[in-house]
Amino acid sequence: MENRIRVAIDGPSGAGKSTIAKAVAKKLGIDYIDTGAMYRAVGYKVLKQGVDPGDAQALKTLLDETEIDFSKGNIILDGNVINDKIRTPEISKKASECSALAQVREKLVQLQRGMGQSKSVIMDGRDIGSNVLTDAEYKFFMTASPEERARRRFDELKEKGQQVTYEQVLEDILQRDHNDMTRELNPLRKAEDARELDTTGMSIEEVTDYILKEIEKNGNC
Ligand code: DC
Repeated sequence: MENRIRVAIDGPSGAGKSTIAKAVAKKLGIDYIDTGAMYRAVGYKVLKQGVDPGDAQALKTLLDETEIDFSKGNIILDGNVINDKIRTPEISKKASECSALAQVREKLVQLQRGMGQSKSVIMDGRDIGSNVLTDAEYKFFMTASPEERARRRFDELKEKGQQVTYEQVLEDILQRDHNDMTRELNPLRKAEDARELDTTGMSIEEVTDYILKEIEKNGNC
């Protein structure tokens, strides 16, 4: 399809992927797909229904009856907007657990590939450039030091009025890095052809501009 572009942004938790992806999507007028939110949606449903993720048959039934979509910046699970329900530490943990399961990954990767098939998209996650959209026109691997990522997340949580300490947030980030990188299935890793971008010390505007320039350089927009 002519002029279609797919942009993949991967990287560890708290690297700022979703903030940047949203800003780039807005500038380019293309859809943003937050794949982490899809794993969170599954984690949310598993928790809500009290399903044991280790029970393969129960998980299969749950996944067969699950519909996930995005509309106007909202994530929709089985017809309901769940944006606010999936950003808690409890759901982060369940999403991480579910994201290591083959059944869950198969279902979500298939959905994600479908979303990137017929239109321009920017998708962020852990395995987009290396697995979901291996032929994406643009691939970025965004990192930042664990301390800076913890600081950004800590500030965000404080703003929302949550009671946490910086040390707790840092520990959580290091644990999630470990889980994401050592997972057997599609672990977090930089695709060979992805551009690596260390955003430590960079502002949101600087990172957004860098990505937009890389895309404009190639004349797709
Ligand atoms: O980016 P996030 O924190 O919202 O992601 C939630 C969980 O889903 C996290 O444990 C990593 C996992 N994930 C994944 O395995 N693959 C993706 N493409 C996106 C997220």
